[in-house]
Amino acid sequence: MDIKILKAKEHIHKEIKNLPGDKSIAHRSLIIGCIPKGTYNIYNFPKGNDCVVTLKNMEKLGAKVIYEDEYKLKVISPGIEEFKKDVGVLNCDNSGTTVRLLLGILCAANIKAVLIGDESLSKRPMKRILEPLRLMGGVFECSEDKLPINTTKLSNLESIEYLMTVSSAQVKSALLIAALVAKKDIVVKEVLSTRDHTEIMMKYLGADIKCKENSITLEKSNLSSKDIFIPGDISSAAFIIGLCILAKESSVTLKDVLLNPSRRKFIDILKDMGADINMDIKETRNGELVGDIKVKSSNLKGIEIEAKYTPSIIDEIPLISVLAAFSEGTTIIKSVDELKVKESNRVDGIINNLKNCGIQSHYDNGDLFIKGGNSYISKDINIESQKDHRIAMAFAVLSIRNLKSTNINHWEYTNISFPNSIKFFSEFLNMVET
Ligand code: S3P
Repeated sequence: MDIKILKAKEHIHKEIKNLPGDKSIAHRSLIIGCIPKGTYNIYNFPKGNDCVVTLKNMEKLGAKVIYEDEYKLKVISPGIEEFKKDVGVLNCDNSGTTVRLLLGILCAANIKAVLIGDESLSKRPMKRILEPLRLMGGVFECSEDKLPINTTKLSNLESIEYLMTVSSAQVKSALLIAALVAKKDIVVKEVLSTRDHTEIMMKYLGADIKCKENSITLEKSNLSSKDIFIPGDISSAAFIIGLCILAKESSVTLKDVLLNPSRRKFIDILKDMGADINMDIKETRNGELVGDIKVKSSNLKGIEIEAKYTPSIIDEIPLISVLAAFSEGTTIIKSVDELKVKESNRVDGIINNLKNCGIQSHYDNGDLFIKGGNSYISKDINIESQKDHRIAMAFAVLSIRNLKSTNINHWEYTNISFPNSIKFFSEFLNMVET
């Protein structure tokens, strides 16, 4: 499904509630939440495709999930020891988090399965996860460390101390989950810190886990089931924030959004660029900070974003790149190579689509340069989303500054992370499905 965006709306003053729940926490609410035997509720579980894929796979492993109402899921888990031992094919579709976190569970619990994914996921690197799991004693069958991956051979996991070679929360999480399930101690050391939802969730459910200066130590633990509330997805909120910044004389308050420090770095960066944004942390729910974000239309200036921040803004780089185009001066985003192995090659997606819009950018030696100074675009544009949810949404944000029409292909992929995205984007844009 393509989407055509016509005239942008102006003078928007809104309070936005009920953002779909955070994708990263949603995956963990089922994958980690189901490890102990028990019944619990998940509130605000998002219906985005990636999270539904995790849900279906957990059902295949033996969990029972009941939609009590729009907002509440009831989960009945038999506990990891009682999971089915031979589950056949687990289709992870487009979801890197599902496949990587499940690999930790499967080898630690010796569950026979064949993990597969869509065209995009089948091309993505799995060596980063297979290598450390093999060091622990995991046995996998696959070709060139890509999907399909078979876990039919017996694994026997041991404790390890592992220094991460790639800054990836998915890899870190899979190792912690594998150790937890295999009842082995583990120390994982990160060079650059990544999102810490796994550590927070494990601690909330009773694990003996300690985090100190980029070193995470998990000791043999038993978890217990507890209810989990999923705050609004801060990475989805990012697009609404971007729209409001670029809109004319507008202001928005986003309610009950995840404000975990390992996820909100892009807000500091946008502030450094001159954006008028304020956060109001209201409470802690299952260990996660939750609150409101207030943002107003702003004029931005280009900045240089240091490499050490890349893992904490990894999902927001397409959006920051688009905003940089409308900032004064050049923006440099250092060390963006991880973007090449996301749902699509996002470096190409950013550069090629900016070029379509007449905006200059280039990639050099790992870094991304975006030339700012644009106020409005005035031409009919076709955006190639590359079937990548974040490329599609970042360029929908850009369209607010296009005086003519913007066509974005494969908008349906936005449902990967932002279910019902049209409803939220339509607060700012006149959009029609084509
Ligand atoms: C995620 C981690 C990040 C992120 C992805 C979700 C997670 O991936 O890009 O959208 O939930 O752990 P990497 O671990 O590959 O950096």
